[in-house]
Amino acid sequence: MKAIVIEQPGDESCMKLGEAASPDMRPGAIRIRVAACAVNRADLLQRQGFYPPPPGASEILGLECAGEVVEVASDVTNFAVGDRAMALLAGGGYSEDVVVSAGSAMKVPERLSYEQAAAVPEVFLTVFLNVFQLAGLQAGDTALVHGGGSGIGTAFIQLVKEAGARCIITAGSEEKCKRCLELGADVAVNYREGDFVAEAKAATGGAGVDVILDSIGGSYLAQNLDALAIGGRLVLIGLMGGAKAEIPLGMVLAKRLQVLGSTLRARPDAEKAAIVTGLLEQFGAALEAGTIGPIVDRVMSLADAGDAHRLIKASEHFGKVVLSVR
Ligand SMILES: NC(=O)c1ccc[n+]([C@@H]2O[C@H](COP(=O)([O-])OP(=O)(O)OC[C@H]3O[C@@H](n4cnc5c(N)ncnc54)[C@H](OP(=O)(O)O)[C@@H]3O)[C@@H](O)[C@H]2O)c1
Repeated sequence: MKAIVIEQPGDESCMKLGEAASPDMRPGAIRIRVAACAVNRADLLQRQGFYPPPPGASEILGLECAGEVVEVASDVTNFAVGDRAMALLAGGGYSEDVVVSAGSAMKVPERLSYEQAAAVPEVFLTVFLNVFQLAGLQAGDTALVHGGGSGIGTAFIQLVKEAGARCIITAGSEEKCKRCLELGADVAVNYREGDFVAEAKAATGGAGVDVILDSIGGSYLAQNLDALAIGGRLVLIGLMGGAKAEIPLGMVLAKRLQVLGSTLRARPDAEKAAIVTGLLEQFGAALEAGTIGPIVDRVMSLADAGDAHRLIKASEHFGKVVLSVR
């Protein structure tokens, strides 16, 4: 099969369109002929040798894909050959052929193309896991995400609003703030000019926010804790701003805060299946109806994976960057 191969980890030019062996079929799995995969910021780290796949997963980059189901293990009941599927992967998406646990896959809503569907699994499942399952966001609460214009941010805005909660985002430009507001965010803070802690407090009558989804880490830790309400939850999913920080424990204690850390990729298949089930139970109808859905910045060809990584590195995108494999 065709795939993006990396002989030596490095800059964007280390990714070449080449040949790789198709993955073996296994019990509980489906084989998808990939029509499109999407790029995630974590792929940039893996390309440089910093984010190895979990044991047993494909070495090929790519955490999500969409395409036609071409083979189904005999013990799988929820998919048939010919179905359109979109799937969360531990690796392997930058290729023509993936084998994935059936529990990590979802049927593609009718109105979505494969290019759109490939942009759904990673960000919608990550936001659902962290904001709803782990942080327990409820209707009427207020939630904040950093990087509202990211893949994660655009999914966050839609899920939070669909759940009846208030949504605050930060982003690095007026243009991104404007687009986040158009997508449904209630408050957008340009972090290059404004103070998100002050804005979050102003928007909540001084109380602070209930949940923060944070991919910045160290450089924002103290401000994030300050921006939380009593009983607030900070869920850490990335470290773009550094892996070390001093924790103001007095604030954690006095405000009864919870600081959680989470990754999706290395979770066992059964946990991923429970996240997929939970997302579809709460938001499947909205996804089907199109009231929520992927925000695709652009579709590029698989052979242009290097350019796609450059674009993401420069944060020039809004939403997701998709690679067409057809
Ligand atoms: N733990 C997990 O399971 C998991 C799963 C998926 C993703 N993630 C993490 O979630 C993060 C987002 O992923 P993605 O693929 O959606 O990334 P992405 O589309 O590349 O977006 C990253 C965003 O962060 C913004 N940003 C950078 N510095 C910022 C700052 N100081 N304050 C606010 N925003 C800032 C960038 O835009 P502007 O600066 O232009 O606003 C950009 O929109 C990554 O760190 C990724 O590793 C974690």
